[in-house]
Amino acid sequence: MDTDLNGRVVMVTGASSGIGAATARAYGREGARVAITYRSGRDRAEKVAADVEAAGGQAHVVPLDLDDPPSIDRAVADVIEHWGGIDVLVANAVQWGGDGPPDPSTRFEDVPVAAWESMTRANLVGTAASVRAVLPGMRAKEWGRIVLISSGVAEEGLPGPGPYGTAKAGLYGLARGLAWNAGRDGILVNVVAPGLTLTESRPGIPQAVLDTLAAATPSRRLSDPDDVARLIVFLGSGANGNLTGELVREGSSAARAPHIGG
Ligand SMILES: NC(=O)c1ccc[n+]([C@@H]2O[C@H](COP(=O)([O-])OP(=O)(O)OC[C@H]3O[C@@H](n4cnc5c(N)ncnc54)[C@H](OP(=O)(O)O)[C@@H]3O)[C@@H](O)[C@H]2O)c1
Repeated sequence: MDTDLNGRVVMVTGASSGIGAATARAYGREGARVAITYRSGRDRAEKVAADVEAAGGQAHVVPLDLDDPPSIDRAVADVIEHWGGIDVLVANAVQWGGDGPPDPSTRFEDVPVAAWESMTRANLVGTAASVRAVLPGMRAKEWGRIVLISSGVAEEGLPGPGPYGTAKAGLYGLARGLAWNAGRDGILVNVVAPGLTLTESRPGIPQAVLDTLAAATPSRRLSDPDDVARLIVFLGSGANGNLTGELVREGSSAARAPHIGG
């Protein structure tokens, strides 16, 4: 299949670890020029950049903080100055709102309003800001692909993390509207909703929980970051000819799995 990615400029936010890092490497294997954004893990981002270049792509590392809108505009401007434009945006970065994914045992009413504001500002408004910044260049070229990384939690729910799931659900609304707004300019936008994915950065989830989740998936296994990355690369490539405004469930997100904890 021709992905038409050789030499294309792809910006993957939050690519210093996990799914974003796997996605950057996968684009590298397609010969793309990959902008890797990080918030605190510059060293990790540099290692991903080396992997991208070893795989046959080119890499450029830039800081971007979803909590800091000017940093989003600066990162996009940096990549455009470096490579002349951005063809594909993978909006993958996430602010977990703590040391990692939300604690499912937290009661809804115990989440402060400030946490709602912070989580939705970063994960919904910050993601929208990154989309907003790349659109003019894509419109000018009459070609673009945007992939927003949501979560199975957006549809499935999960006890506790109200702001996280709400922000992730909002990305679907963003994609539906944007598909109409930008489709006539050759820009396709889709959402990938991974289920629990076996990234190196996940906290120690008990094996029994992983086994229960895996058993509830159609394929009887949880995805690894490369599984998710391949789906993202398809949607964010020329191989995706006209699919837009869709949400694609990945891995255990396709299951009606029992909740973790709660
Ligand atoms: N892993 C899963 O099971 C799972 C399941 C469903 C959905 N997802 C979604 O998949 C995406 C990737 O998840 P992951 O598990 O691969 O995450 P991860 O390994 O924790 O990586 C998160 C990335 O986001 C960056 N980041 C953190 N805070 C940021 C901020 N305020 N502004 C900009 N970037 C920030 C991190 O950069 P630094 O490390 O450099 O600070 C890192 O590159 C997320 O959108 C997540 O919601 C993941």
